Amino acid sequence: MAERQDELHERAAADPSGVSRQMADNFMSSLEEEIDQAGGEWQEDEETLGSVGFTMYDTPASKDNTITVLLPAEQIGKTPAQSLVRIKSRKKERGGDGRQYLGAIIEGPFAEPDGLRADAPLVVTTTVRGARFMPRYHGRVQVEIMGEEIGGTLVPPRFRPLPNSPVFVLDQEETAERLRLGGDVTLGLAVGYEKMPVALPATRKDVFPRHTGILGTTGGGKSTTVSGLVGKLGAAGVAVVIFDTEGEYTKIMEPAGGDEMREMLAALERRGLKPAGVKNVAIRRLVGRESTNPTYSDNREFSLEFSNISPYAMAEILGLNEAQQDRFHKAYEITRRALMDLKIFPADEKDQAELLELDEMERGFPRMTLRHMYDITRFCADIVAKEEDAGASLRTPAFRTPAARAQIEQLIKTAKPEGHAGSWRKVQGSLARLLRLGIFDDQQTGLPDYDDLTRPGRVTIIDLSDTDSPQVNNLVISEILRGLHRQQDENYRASEKDKAPLRRVVVVIEEAHEFLSAERIRQMPVLFQQVARIARRGRKRWLGLCFVTQLPQHLPDEVLGLINNYVLHKIADANVISRLRRSIGGVDDGLWNRLPNLAPGQAIVTAASLARPLLVAIDPTPAKLRMIE
Ligand SMILES: Nc1ncnc2c1ncn2[C@@H]1O[C@H](COP(=O)(O)OP(=O)(O)O)[C@@H](O)[C@H]1O
Ligand SMILES: [Mg+2]
Repeated sequence: MAERQDELHERAAADPSGVSRQMADNFMSSLEEEIDQAGGEWQEDEETLGSVGFTMYDTPASKDNTITVLLPAEQIGKTPAQSLVRIKSRKKERGGDGRQYLGAIIEGPFAEPDGLRADAPLVVTTTVRGARFMPRYHGRVQVEIMGEEIGGTLVPPRFRPLPNSPVFVLDQEETAERLRLGGDVTLGLAVGYEKMPVALPATRKDVFPRHTGILGTTGGGKSTTVSGLVGKLGAAGVAVVIFDTEGEYTKIMEPAGGDEMREMLAALERRGLKPAGVKNVAIRRLVGRESTNPTYSDNREFSLEFSNISPYAMAEILGLNEAQQDRFHKAYEITRRALMDLKIFPADEKDQAELLELDEMERGFPRMTLRHMYDITRFCADIVAKEEDAGASLRTPAFRTPAARAQIEQLIKTAKPEGHAGSWRKVQGSLARLLRLGIFDDQQTGLPDYDDLTRPGRVTIIDLSDTDSPQVNNLVISEILRGLHRQQDENYRASEKDKAPLRRVVVVIEEAHEFLSAERIRQMPVLFQQVARIARRGRKRWLGLCFVTQLPQHLPDEVLGLINNYVLHKIADANVISRLRRSIGGVDDGLWNRLPNLAPGQAIVTAASLARPLLVAIDPTPAKLRMIE
């Protein structure tokens, strides 16, 4: 009041004639009189002090869990989307019910003219004619009620906030706490806030071990998210294994740089981050394959073991038709008998015990090599084709002695291989192709060292860039998933025994649709059942899977059902969005509506640890990514 009076006096002083001064004096004295009559100057009452707006009456369009809040124009800037607000009903003696609610702004802030609809003809006409017609306006936001606050805890609301209740914006600290944004794996900053980091905890069993999906169109920011995540997980002491189908991550140990990462470097600087390579990185590649980073010191080959693969999964991966599958299983059965009769397995009592435990839906027959299987299949095919010198081509030394050869021939004749020679030759041919790849049972290289792969902070890139065969990739992925799972079983037992902390492992599967599309799962149900089992047990054994794909529409519901955390980058396809909406709970419409228009690096993040899904500007990656087309 006093300020206003001063201002009027100032203006009057600038008016040499003194006319306005006189007017001001008259005006002010009559105004003061009126104020006195009305009971003194207006004071914002205690209950509403610091509020940004008030809840509105409901309309027929009102929905149960959301409420409309109106704000004066000058408060609009304080209520960006995603802000948390507290709605405090007035005290009982002032007509309220005294309840207090926590909510999140899910739509708005919108600016609406006072007393007019924004699309009123008057407003529209003057605007399109270029006239300046700016009625006073106010803000409107839609608030989703997260719960009622009772004694410091949040409980599901039983009522709605009453109309005209004051609304307060939570400060950043309380917001971060309420949204549970804390953790040791920082993803980025919450959109709409000055600088509010969003992190996930790598310590909790109910976050990463309950599996993650990183989805979005090409260019949306998935690889950037993955490489940042890998570095953070490693630094937090989690072992990470990445199936790198394109060789994108094989330079991740180097700091971001180079011409193709110019934009990333600028983004890092804006965020106040420095380029830095990921520590403790190993590259592993399949024996005989090239690497996209061949000069890196810790780059080694590994091979697969035929005996680790379930014969049922193997028949699926080879893509055999029904008749061929029959032949395959017949040959497998004969090979198994031969190994037993020749005492290759079981050879001793320990082997006997192992044989009793054997589950051939999970793995193959111990010590059976692809060469064994090929030799017997060919022998069978020769016999069916009535070749003169059937069995002459046996290459396994233990099969080649005259006694062994006679024994095997007897086994085959007892088993009575049926069918046309053609289907036998087909199976023989697929096994021959696999043999020529040279990826099985290589004595020099051996399986990946799973103990090493699960060491705290170890980051292993499985460089699959040179395989260009989805079948081989699937063989590798299923071997390593199984191996890691068994290793984690062992690690779990060891940690129980020594009361030591359990090793934590996250496995990133890039191009997950190649491995787990609906189509492939139909062709390879056994393989998928293995993955599903690992996913289910992975929760107990701290083995988290992270599926990355630009074609989430190819992931069947069974896979989406395994995933509890999502990082959703831009997805433009409305059909894909509506399908994801059905599988992913808790994301409000306002966020879904933004999904098609997200900028590269922005993502909707939902996680077991977060109180609600959040739009996040994912941090640019400090590590080098190889750009691939
Ligand atoms: N978090 C981010 N911060 C800054 N820029 C990003 C971010 N994510 C992606 N970008 C930009 O978008 C480009 C494509 O991102 P990328 O991670 O390769 O997408 P995707 O793997 O989904 O195809 C990057 O080269 C970079 O310029
Ligand atoms: Mg990518």
